[in-house]
Amino acid sequence: MVEKNLDFRSDTVTWPSPEMRQAAAEAMVGDMGYGEDPSVNELERLAAEKLGKEAALFVTSGHQGNAVAILAQTKKGDEIILETRSHIYSMEKGHWAVIGSLVPRLIKGVDGFLPSEQIRSNIHGGIKDSFRTSLLCNENTNLAAGGTAIPIKQMKTMYDTGKELGLQVHTDGARVFNAATALGVDVKEIARHADTVQFCLSKGLAAPVGSMVVGPQEVIDHAKSFRRMLGGSMRQAGIIAAPGIVALTKMVDRLQEDHDNAAYLGEGLEKLGFKLSYLVKTNMVFVDLTSVGWGKDEWVDACAKSGFKTGVRSPERVRLVTHYGIEREDIKRLLDDLSSTI
Ligand SMILES: Cc1ncc(COP(=O)(O)O)c(C=O)c1O
Repeated sequence: MVEKNLDFRSDTVTWPSPEMRQAAAEAMVGDMGYGEDPSVNELERLAAEKLGKEAALFVTSGHQGNAVAILAQTKKGDEIILETRSHIYSMEKGHWAVIGSLVPRLIKGVDGFLPSEQIRSNIHGGIKDSFRTSLLCNENTNLAAGGTAIPIKQMKTMYDTGKELGLQVHTDGARVFNAATALGVDVKEIARHADTVQFCLSKGLAAPVGSMVVGPQEVIDHAKSFRRMLGGSMRQAGIIAAPGIVALTKMVDRLQEDHDNAAYLGEGLEKLGFKLSYLVKTNMVFVDLTSVGWGKDEWVDACAKSGFKTGVRSPERVRLVTHYGIEREDIKRLLDDLSSTI
């Protein structure tokens, strides 16, 4: 029997496809530190082309990608505008403070959107000439808003406002291809409203390792020196870049399937009486357990009985993320099992 990856905790748990494993085995390699790994060079070329940017950089993780993009576009002592619940602010161990000596100016977004007037009134720490504000960051899809995709109009407003104020704009697009799929646009439409974008190969696109940063050549060159500083200048990295090429060429079109599965799962849970914390827009379903009088232990036990792992966000709330490896029939089985337990 083929082992299945029945793990709803995140799309970070995806296993590489057979084609990715094959690509890794056969990858052409060289020394990436010398710029001589052909697979890495091809992946970087492809990523820049797909996102419509001048250049791209292969990095070890989304976290490292956000760090080098931020460091490359700021100077020590600058202020950067971050959304209060963003991954960059809350989950990345403060690389921007520890390495960049940057000061965060936090704005509470509306479903990930930072309105113009909020950005304007927070620039320079709200006091003219107090700080040099140099960078505005946003996140699409937006995790804290339930995995929603920020619409193009809002991306444009944030970008135009940033540009009017002389800021660089960085998008944490860990799941930017999910955003493009949900919005029904080419991913370039999202990327054109940011100077730099970080996106992950290792999440819904199912590659085993890695993220990309895309942007202007000058910024990417600068980011490359920070990648070296952070230990991300690898050697025969073609072994992990080759599955990344498969991710970009073969796995983007199947993301709609994950979104459809998430919608199906959400509807099924609602029919069982569970309340969803957010509308399902991409591959994430957030469930409020109190609506059926359950706590996390009942939930985890019930799912484990059906062979599933799920993510617990709090004693009353859980998150399920659909991804490559989880199929409609698996979800149907989980819903059937839950309906006989509840
Ligand atoms: C929105 C967002 N940004 C960045 C990251 C960091 O990516 P990585 O885990 O590859 O460092 C994640 C990880 O889950 C994420 O969800």
